[in-house]
Amino acid sequence: MTTSPDMAAFVAGLPKAELHVHLQGAASVPTILELSRRYPEAGLPLEEDELREFYRFRDFDHFLSVYMAVNELVRTPDDVQALVEGLGRDLAAVNVRYAEVTVTADSHLLAGMDPAGVAEALTAGRAATLARTGVELAYTYDINGAHGLPGAERTISWAERFPAEGSVGFGLGGPEAGAPRTAYAEAFTRARDIGLASVPHAGETTGPQSIRDSLDALGAVRIGHGIAAAQDADLMAELVERDVVLEVCPTSNVCTRAVDSLEAHPFTILREAGVRVTLNTDDPGMFDTDLNREYEIAHEVFGVDRSGLVDLARESVRASLAVQPVKDRILAEIDDYAAATQPE
Ligand code: ADE
Ligand code: ZN
Repeated sequence: MTTSPDMAAFVAGLPKAELHVHLQGAASVPTILELSRRYPEAGLPLEEDELREFYRFRDFDHFLSVYMAVNELVRTPDDVQALVEGLGRDLAAVNVRYAEVTVTADSHLLAGMDPAGVAEALTAGRAATLARTGVELAYTYDINGAHGLPGAERTISWAERFPAEGSVGFGLGGPEAGAPRTAYAEAFTRARDIGLASVPHAGETTGPQSIRDSLDALGAVRIGHGIAAAQDADLMAELVERDVVLEVCPTSNVCTRAVDSLEAHPFTILREAGVRVTLNTDDPGMFDTDLNREYEIAHEVFGVDRSGLVDLARESVRASLAVQPVKDRILAEIDDYAAATQPE
């Protein structure tokens, strides 16, 4: 199937929510070029074609090493705030009304930023985005599995001490192999105690066990990626039973080589098993995608029709950690849009 201009316009106008997008990975190519020119000693590409080449990943580990290198360009709370505001503008341009932005606060702390300053930058960037675009931002803080338990401790104690406005979730990203989800149970308990929902990455590059561990040891209400569940019918049934939602990111999975191709992506297997699935971008600046493109892919590659795309948009809002009035407002906008765009 191809996306007709009509369908592309339909997707573009559809009010949407994004539940899985990393702050640094979302930064557009021009934004990263501006930072790499400001900090040339980091040795990152200074020209657009070189940066695009730098963003061609051989495998997941290579992706993570590029991701960490790009993180080095974010050095001050002002940089953090600029990234938030840039992301807010990009989200508004694709009609995203609400987004949960994953912030790896530990990277900023390790770069020597003032911990209170990081939280203030997030709060200020969120307020500026709301005032300028109407987009509601919320934050999830992910532990980087590469930094082990000390990184977990730094992340959760920062979240406890410096709560930015809009803090809603707690996650676990970076490498899955060698970072067993069970090791992080204590940090997630503390996160839940301060009202942050458990939304770890799992089943992206390792098998179903990482998803089971996330449910059992981390109390996950949603799973970042979770595509390995498609290998295990019992696990899919458990996800349905526990009403756990997957944050699926198709383009990401191809770019990081977690799956061989879009055609080989288990999106349809998961949905046919009744698992709740949402569409997300993960690191849109690095993967040259945006949320409209992910919806177009759902249509083109996975055969989802207009009403299915509307259902996916609704599901993202329902599965979000937004307060009920925000959910109700966006769901009503989606309903109005669906009614106004009914084909004759
Ligand atoms: N950090 C940024 N993108 C990520 C991904 N796809 N998986 C794990 N950690 C990440
Ligand atoms: Zn991610």
